[in-house]
Order: sequence, then structure tokens, then C-alpha cells
Amino acid sequence: MSKSSGEATASDTAQLTIDGKTFDLPIIEGTEGERGIDIRKLRSQTGVITLDAGFANTGACKSAITFIDGEKGILRYRGYPIEQLAQHSTFLEVSWLLLHGELPSKAELEEFTREVTLHTMLHEDYRRLFDFMPKSSHPMPVAAAAVAALSTFYPEPDTDDRIFRATVRLLAKMPTIAACAYKHSIGQPSMYPRNDLDYCSNFLQMMYAVPCEEYTPDPVVARALDQLLILHADHEQNCSTSTVRMVGSSHASLYATIASGISALWGPLHGGANQKVIEMLERIAVEEGSADEFLRKAKDKNETTRLMGFGHRVYKSYDPRAKILKQTCADVLSRVGGSSRLLEIAQRLEEIALSDDYFIERKLFPNVDFYSGVIYQAIGIPVNMFTVMFTMGRLPGWIAQWLEMRHDPDFRIGRPRQIYTGELMRDYVAADKR
Ligand code: SDX
Repeated sequence: MSKSSGEATASDTAQLTIDGKTFDLPIIEGTEGERGIDIRKLRSQTGVITLDAGFANTGACKSAITFIDGEKGILRYRGYPIEQLAQHSTFLEVSWLLLHGELPSKAELEEFTREVTLHTMLHEDYRRLFDFMPKSSHPMPVAAAAVAALSTFYPEPDTDDRIFRATVRLLAKMPTIAACAYKHSIGQPSMYPRNDLDYCSNFLQMMYAVPCEEYTPDPVVARALDQLLILHADHEQNCSTSTVRMVGSSHASLYATIASGISALWGPLHGGANQKVIEMLERIAVEEGSADEFLRKAKDKNETTRLMGFGHRVYKSYDPRAKILKQTCADVLSRVGGSSRLLEIAQRLEEIALSDDYFIERKLFPNVDFYSGVIYQAIGIPVNMFTVMFTMGRLPGWIAQWLEMRHDPDFRIGRPRQIYTGELMRDYVAADKR
């Protein structure tokens, strides 16, 4: 399904001298001029490995899906700037772009939309899965369990046709799964999807409609939601996507692989940050005037406090998604009339932080999570559902990256090495002699 636009080219060699012996290592260059030292033969040639905690300096793959320039705040999906896609495209169109490498024709998009629409319903036996989850469950482990359970209902996606069907199934059913998890947690009957509504309007009605009342989704809210999903659709080799590639590299089922991505995304340092941002803003709102105090703690090494929604492994300038969401915040709040109190606190925090040496020296700027929560809350999404919304958005990116990995001619199962720092060899001692 996917196709890569350009190839990395050998551009030069790096020289590494170890114990007086010099080794040439090829340097490869990507289509945007990024260069990497190809160390695939390093251990066999030199006997040594590299060490890079958190893989901050290590490329795991070559990819043609998403390009980020962290210094310039650039994000493009298949070459298209995120700003243009957020303004002119739709989530399903962007999903097709990520999966196939090109924007769909009108006919392709209509057919894809029809396929997704016709697969939004859940098997009645599958729907009962939610009945066994405690109502107090966080919806992220429910979503992870539900997606993994798709492997028990559908055939293994091990052929191109089955992979296409599984892709449509996942994109179609994720909103229904999310809404089911929410409805179950509040003791309301889950709503069936409606084929007369677009992707996001359908999600809103499954979330907020009740059988005893008419419900008409607000088109402005649906559009804001569609834009949020576009902004979250892919982000190259982040933690959850790297998890998907790692789990997928063992040829585990696509459903189990996506479930692993959901679990990784849940972490508060990653996709779970959007929930933590709102909790942080609400705490500051209650403890009047504590923005300065909060920032003092965020800078204090002895405190575990972090300014959630700030900082990024790649962006060392403003996250372009945060820039777009900051404007969307204002638009949505003016439309739905939600309280702008949290937005004002967020803007105040940003203003103070961006003029504070601690944040300036460390190049810490708002990331995608800093403003997204304010919008989710304004359109009525419960706080514990924020990361499920991130999951819905990131789903096409995970699948596209998984597909690219499976078609990669350099594909190998992921298996990093280590530097052992434990005990040297020692003999076992019986318990009565220890
Ligand atoms: C996402 O990778 C992706 O692409 C992720 C994502 C995606 O689309 O998939 O963009 C989505 O996960 C966005 C990030 C959401 N997480 C948060 O907002 C949580 C708060 N941010 C941080 O925890 C942190 O900035 C990370 C996790 C995002 C990045 O961590 P790094 O790259 O490992 O950086 P670091 O922890 O080494 O921080 C460098 C310095 C440290 O200080 P020093 O040790 O140098 O003195 O900056 C400090 C950190 O203490 N720092 C912060 C901070 N973030 C970093 N200090 C206070 N508040 C913060 N938010």
C-alpha cells in the first residue's frame, strides 16, 4: 500500500579509530539532507557497539512517511506541510495519504470513506467485552484490550487484502471502541454508529447521543475534532510508533501491534501528557495565582513537577502543531462558549516560560499536548478520554509505519544490544551456606 518517494544515498564515509585501527563507516543521506552513519557492520568489523540511552542520536530506520525539522519547527506528512493539511484536508484523506504515499483521487477517497463507514459497527459478541470492564477503568487500557481482542474475532492480517481490510476495520472501529468505553464508564447504553454522518460527527453522536433524545452534532466541533486528528496522525519515530515497529518486527498480529502502541502512548511523558496538562491547569486555576510557583517547581531538580505539554525530544523550537492548536482553541471557545479560564492560564504559563532562562536554555517550547486538552475539554471530551483521542489520531500513522517496516528491504527483527554491568561469573551457593 505504501510507496517511498526517494531513497537514502551513500554520501561519504566516517572514520572511526579504535585501538589504533581505523574503520570506514558509510554515511547515508536522506532526501532532506539528513545524514546518518550506517553502523550495521560496526560490531562485526570492530567488536564494539554504540550506546545511546533513549535512542536520542540513533536512527532506527529509513522512512518516507513524515519529515520533522525540530530546529525550524517543520512537520510534513509525505511532503505536505502540516499547516496546509490541517487547513484544507480531512482526517480520512490524511489517513490515505499516510498509508499510500499520495493524496487520494476523488473516487479513491469516496470509496475509502464508504469502506470505513460500512465497518464502524462492532460485532455484538465483541461489544459485550466492555461489559466486563470495571466502570472505573481508565479508557486507555480498555482501548488497548479491545484492539488486541480484534485478533480473536478477525483473521490474521497476513496478506495484502487482509491487511487492507484490517486497516479499514481499525480506522472504522476505533471511534466506536472509544465511545463504547466512555459510555460504559458512565453507565449509559452505547450508541450505534450512523452511516449518514461523517467520521467525526459520527464519533460525537456515539459519545453524546442518548436513545431518548434527538442529537445533532455541531459541525464546527466536528471540524475542530477532525483537525485535531490530522495533527496527531503521525510523528515519525516517537515512543509509541517505535513500539509499534518493534512489536511488529516479530510479525505479531497488526491488532496486537497497535495495542502495544496504545499502551506506550498512555505514558504521561508521551501521549498521556494532554490529560496531565489539563490537570495541571485546573490545579493552577484552583490554587489562585500559582503559575509562578508551579514554574518554580518545574525548574527545581528536587521536584518531580514538570511543565506538562512543554519540551520535546525533537522540536527545539515551537511545535508547529501547538501553534495551530493555539489558534483553534480561540476559534472553538468562541463558538462553543466554553470558559477561557484554562486557556488564559495556559497562555500565561507560556508567556512566563518563554521568557525564562531555564526554558530558553533548554529550548523548551509548547508541544502538541499543551493546547489540545483545552480544546478537547471545550468540546466536552472527558479528561480521561484525551489520550484515547490521541490514539484515534495516531492510528493511521502507526499502521503506515508498520506497513513501511514490513516492506522495508532492510527489514530485520528488532533486537538491540547492551553493555553488561552486572556480576562476573560466580558459583551457586546452597541456601544453608549463604
Ligand atoms: C509527545 O516524540 C514525539 O514525537 C512525541 C509526540 C508525538 O507526536 O508522538 O510529539 C507527542 O509525546 C509530546 C511530549 C508530551 N510530553 C510532555 O509534555 C511531558 C513534559 N515534557 C517532558 O517530560 C520532556 O520534555 C519530554 C519527555 C517531552 C522530552 O524529554 P527528553 O527529550 O528526554 O528531554 P529531557 O527529559 O532530557 O529534558 C532536557 C532538560 C532536562 O533538564 P536538565 O537535566 O538538562 O537540567 O529539560 C528539562 C529536563 O529536566 N525538561 C523540563 C521539561 N522537559 C524537559 N523541565 C521542566 N518541564 C518540562 N516539561
